[in-house]
Amino acid sequence: MKIKNPIFTTEDLCAYYGDFMAIKHVTVKIPEKQVTAVMGPSGCGKTTFIRCLNRLHELTPGARITGKIFLRDQDILQMDPIIVRRKVGMVFQRPNPFPTMTIYENVLAGYKLLGIRLPKEEADRIVEEALKKAALWDEVKDVLHRRGTFLSGGQQQRLCIARALAVKPEVLLMDEPTSALDPKATLQIENLIVELKQTVTIIIVTHNMPQAGRISDYTAFFYLGELIEFGPTAEVFTNPKDPRTEEYLTGKFS
Ligand SMILES: Nc1ncnc2c1ncn2[C@@H]1O[C@H](COP(=O)(O)OP(=O)(O)O)[C@@H](O)[C@H]1O
Ligand SMILES: [Mg+2]
Repeated sequence: MKIKNPIFTTEDLCAYYGDFMAIKHVTVKIPEKQVTAVMGPSGCGKTTFIRCLNRLHELTPGARITGKIFLRDQDILQMDPIIVRRKVGMVFQRPNPFPTMTIYENVLAGYKLLGIRLPKEEADRIVEEALKKAALWDEVKDVLHRRGTFLSGGQQQRLCIARALAVKPEVLLMDEPTSALDPKATLQIENLIVELKQTVTIIIVTHNMPQAGRISDYTAFFYLGELIEFGPTAEVFTNPKDPRTEEYLTGKFS
């Protein structure tokens, strides 16, 4: 399959924890400004795969990578990981705003970590823009200087999305971002993801098949560390090429 403008290209990517090979020889191109769903049974390597893409994998003691990962044409394994993580943001399963920081400070946390001090006007502008992009501004604009801990789970997750967007990443990795949320909050995040793909590439791990069907353009299906299927979601869902994909889609394993 031809992917015209891949934002990520992996070549024979393998990821290890010590001697255990969790990702096996993955070669794939991820299209730009689309939503790619990463699916597959528990333990098949979804989290490990996306953590390779922003160099988080190597932070696990004993973990390593072989093969290549390009962000457009840049070899990310040769780049400063801090720069990679600025370009490739991440949102986790459990909303994790910094509990001692205000909403405002949370949005700017990425800049603080990078050691960048912003003039007040610029900081205000970035906070407003990121919260608007994350569809949270109207709900929090009057309480920006309160801690984020009183927010609902869905609002906290949108705050984490705002925090990731504030440093203007090219890619947003999301690891089961709605699995801890109720259906209404989940729907808000799904709508937001569809909106965001106009400006940022999204790679989302999800166990939720209807969700992948609603929001993703492409689906990558992993099984025991191998990428066994990749293609437009509509095709993968209606006409899977690999029997293991079909078994998963029909609920034979979880
Ligand atoms: N920190 C770790 N140390 C050793 N093995 C790990 C670690 N994290 C994950 N694994 C193993 O790697 C495989 C892939 O895990 P993971 O990427 O978390 O899968 P998924 O996200 O698809 O559930 C599993 O067999 C898991 O047990
Ligand atoms: Mg996982």
